[in-house]
Amino acid sequence: MSPYDTVIRAGTIVTASDTFDADIGIRAGRIVAIAEDLGDCPDTIDAAGLLVMPGGIDSHVHISQPSGEGVVMADDFDSATRSAAFGGNTTVMPFCFQDKGQSLRDALAWYHGLADGNCHVDVSFHLIVSDPTPHVLGQELPALAEEGYTSFKMFMTYEGLKLTDREILETMTAAKRSGARAMIHAENDDAIGFLRDQAEMAGNTAPRFHATTRPIPVEREATHRAISLAEIAGVPLVIVHVSNREAMEEISRARARGLKVYGETCPQYLVLTAEDLDIPEGAKNVCSPPPRDKASQVACWEGIEQGIFDLFSSDHCPFRYEDTSGKKHPKGRQSFRWIPNGIPGVETRLPILFSEGVGKGRISLQRFVSLTSTNHARQYGLYPRKGTIAIGADADIVLWDPEQERTISQDILHHGADYTPYEGFKVTGWPVLTMVRGQTVVKDGTLAASATGLHVAREKPGD
Ligand code: URP
Ligand code: ZN
Ligand code: ZN
Repeated sequence: MSPYDTVIRAGTIVTASDTFDADIGIRAGRIVAIAEDLGDCPDTIDAAGLLVMPGGIDSHVHISQPSGEGVVMADDFDSATRSAAFGGNTTVMPFCFQDKGQSLRDALAWYHGLADGNCHVDVSFHLIVSDPTPHVLGQELPALAEEGYTSFKMFMTYEGLKLTDREILETMTAAKRSGARAMIHAENDDAIGFLRDQAEMAGNTAPRFHATTRPIPVEREATHRAISLAEIAGVPLVIVHVSNREAMEEISRARARGLKVYGETCPQYLVLTAEDLDIPEGAKNVCSPPPRDKASQVACWEGIEQGIFDLFSSDHCPFRYEDTSGKKHPKGRQSFRWIPNGIPGVETRLPILFSEGVGKGRISLQRFVSLTSTNHARQYGLYPRKGTIAIGADADIVLWDPEQERTISQDILHHGADYTPYEGFKVTGWPVLTMVRGQTVVKDGTLAASATGLHVAREKPGD
C-alpha cells in the first residue's frame, strides 16, 4: 500500500533555485516525499513532459471591492478564484478595503462573509488603510497583524482612499511597530487632478487622456516621496504596479542607499502601451498607472531581468465594459475621469510571463517561479508553507505544458469581465493541472473540485 494519497510522477520539478526530475509524494495536503521513484499509488498523476512548479501566488488582486457609487466589480470570490485556478494560481491575495469611518475588523468581517466557502484557491487578505485613526493604527493594526493579516496598502491617489504624507508616515510607523508589510500606490493626486481638469476644459475626454493626465513624472515623484517617507519612518516598503524606468530608478537608488524597497510590476506594463487606450474600445485598457510606451516595456523587462522587480502580479481589477456603470459608459458620463480604473488579468499573468519571458529567453525557469510564486510567499509571510516545492510545504502545485500554444481570448477565460485586454495575444506554455493543498482543482480545462479554498493567516514578513 502506498504511503501517499497522491503521487505526481516523472515531471520536471522547477523551484526558485533548481530544476530536476523527480516524483512528488503527497499526504494530507502536504508534500511528504520528493524522490526518483516513489512507486505505485492508486492516485498517480503522470507529469511526464510537463513542468511541475509551485502554484502561482498572485499577491495583488481586487475582488468585490467597492469602487464608487453604482460601480460593481466584475468578479466575486467564486469567479475570481476560479479564474485564478484556471490560470495556474493556488493562492491569491485580495485587498480588504476599509471605508472611511469603518473599523478594519468590520471591513474584514464583510470580506470574509463574501469569501469564506466560495474560493477555489487559497486566499489571504491584505488590508487597505483609508482611515488611519489612532484606534486603527494603535489598536486594530497591531492586533490584526498578530492574527495573520500582516500587510496593508496605502494610496497616494483616489478620492476616499488617498492619505496625506503625515498620515502615510503615521501608518508606516504603525507597520513598523506591528511588524506588518507596508505597500503603496505611488501617484501624485494633486498633479493628476490638475492635469485632468486642464484636459477636460480643453474638451479632451477620450480614454487616451487617462494616460496623458497620469504621465511618468506623476508616478516618479510619488515613488520618490513614498520612499523618502519610508526612510523617515524606518520601514521596508513595497512599491506596487511600477510602470516605467524613472520609477524603477527611484527604487534602485533607494536600494543603493541600503533601504529595503521592493518593486512589483504587472503584465500590462510589459505588453500594453498607452496606444491601447487610443483605440475605439480604449476604455477597456484604462488602469493606473497607465501602460506607457515601448521604451517603458523594455525598461520593465530590464527590471525583471535585473531583480529591481521582486514581484510580478496581475493587479487583477475587473470591470465589465458594457454594463451601465461599466467602462464603456461610466454612469452615462463621457469623460475618461469616470472610467473605473483596472483591468482583468489573474488568469493570464502566468502564461504571458512564461511565454514572453521564459519562451523568449529573457528569464530562466527559476526566475519565473521566483517572480510568480516564491517571492510573493517570502514577501508576505507565507514561506515556506507556500511558494515552493519542498518537504512539509502545502501541495500547491501547477503542472505546466511548456509547448502548448494558445491564443488568449475572452472565450477561453473564466473571469467575470466581458473582455480581456490581451485578446488575440499568442502564448506558448499553459497550465494543465492546478492542485491546492493536494486537491486537484482544475484539470485539462475543467473545474475538478468545488470551492475548497481557505483563508490563510500569515507570519510577519520581517525585512
Ligand atoms: O487601475 C488599477 N490599478 N486599479 C486597481 C486599483 C489599484 O490601484 O491597484
Ligand atoms: Zn494601486
Ligand atoms: Zn491594484
